[in-house]
Amino acid sequence: MAKLRVIFENGAPERIVEFDPAKAPFHHDGKPGSILDILLGHKIHLEHACGGNCACTTCHVIVKQGAQLLSEAEEQEEDMLDKAPGLTPTSRLGCQAVVQAPDAEITVVIPKFTINLVSESADEQ
Ligand code: FES
Repeated sequence: MAKLRVIFENGAPERIVEFDPAKAPFHHDGKPGSILDILLGHKIHLEHACGGNCACTTCHVIVKQGAQLLSEAEEQEEDMLDKAPGLTPTSRLGCQAVVQAPDAEITVVIPKFTINLVSESADEQ
């Protein structure tokens, strides 16, 4: 089993999701097995204004641990990330970063400015 720890910069309680990457997709947005897919599939809300199609920056997450266990960012993701507020060297788009190891342990931070965006799909939480 893989483990995804989620820290919310707005102070919401931390969440830990255990999952089997081989069972992806868990939801219908983002690449199968991506951070967005895993979170939505476990009822943890992450913004995804473009539906997980690498066309916005609302699914921006900061990877604190396990970045090497995620798929490499493609050019389109890097171009979009350049527009993300609060970009860091370990920033990724949640809909594009796919967990690749069956026993991966990954920690991500969901930045405050991402959480604070108005969401039409807040009922997914
Ligand atoms: S949801 Fe739009 S880029 Fe990830």
